[in-house]
Amino acid sequence: ETLKIGMIPADGIGHEVLPGAKAAIQALGSSIPKTEFVDLLAGFECFTRTGNALPVETVEALQNDCSCAMFGAVSSPSRKVAGYSSPIVALRKKLDLYANVRPVTSVASSRSAVDLVVVRENTECLYVKDETQTVGTNGKEARATRLITERASRRIGEMAFEIALNRPRKHLTIIHKSNVLSITDGLFRETIRGVPTLPGADGKYDGVTVAEQLVDSAVYRLFREPHIYDVMVAPNLYGDIISDAAAALVGSLGLVPSVNAGDTFVMGEPVHGSAPDIAGQNIANPLAAIRSAALMLRHLGHADGADRIERAVDEVIREGKCLTPDLGGKSKTTEVVEEVVKRI
Ligand code: NAI
Ligand code: MG
Repeated sequence: ETLKIGMIPADGIGHEVLPGAKAAIQALGSSIPKTEFVDLLAGFECFTRTGNALPVETVEALQNDCSCAMFGAVSSPSRKVAGYSSPIVALRKKLDLYANVRPVTSVASSRSAVDLVVVRENTECLYVKDETQTVGTNGKEARATRLITERASRRIGEMAFEIALNRPRKHLTIIHKSNVLSITDGLFRETIRGVPTLPGADGKYDGVTVAEQLVDSAVYRLFREPHIYDVMVAPNLYGDIISDAAAALVGSLGLVPSVNAGDTFVMGEPVHGSAPDIAGQNIANPLAAIRSAALMLRHLGHADGADRIERAVDEVIREGKCLTPDLGGKSKTTEVVEEVVKRI
């Protein structure tokens, strides 16, 4: 059976870091099934050229031909551009990738021991993008809908419990703000608390300890005592913010991987954006993209291949001789990729 991997570099440094992910997967050789890479278009550059940020060919190739994918990064303008909407948000929806899983782990050199996973709900919350603007007695009035459903909360809860169960500490923290948003965050919190009592769970999660924390104090404690966290599960917006904050604890956004996962498809994606300030210079850190490839393989059940890639990356970081400028080094993107490939 061939592993068909859709490759979507999209914008900016996406074009520079995704080849690193490909090289790392290829370096595994015959220890994983035969791989085939399918190059696919999406992104803001694609939009300015073709008027479409996510061509239908890309979606169809992913749905019909590929078992998984790697995504680089998109440049999303912060002002509204007519006809443009983010392809990554659309892809998560179309492929029903309801979980964004982001492990954040420190290697030797960083300040404090961090070893946690943020499990972020990926389909709803404020990101349903139901916004309106009217003019009232207060001038312009803008509103956004925040949607939390039992179904989405339950499946993200199940994934978070599964991930916690497979980690040594087996500790899950539910992040919310239900002291203020008692209806929406209350539903999220209670649904996740209820996962162990669902029919079919049958005591499976008995070994998982559950705690909860308001999102603001969670950020505070994340910076003061990150070691208290193991798995953190959060609604979409809080999860987005917490995972970037956690990334700051380990030195660089260029190190932090993620996968977007559903029940039938998985897409690896570095947490960072398209980094226009450094794009085109061959200095972007490829390690987040390479680690994302490992996570994708792990999700598909190729744990050995994932381990080999992760060990190679950890070694390169620990040795500290071949690092990109964001980590204080002088090496090029392509040189770091070569170092990793050599170790795999
Ligand atoms: P960013 O993540 O692109 O960059 C933030 C800072 O981190 C920059 O100084 C950048 O040079 C640095 N950085 C990021 N990745 C790096 C890497 N691999 N190696 C070395 N340094 C790295 O976030 P920013 O600047 O807020 O956004 C730029 C564009 O990216 C925007 O258009 C934004 O919409 C988009 N973006 C896309 C994301 C995605 O595709 N999922 C996520 C975040 C932002
Ligand atoms: Mg983010």
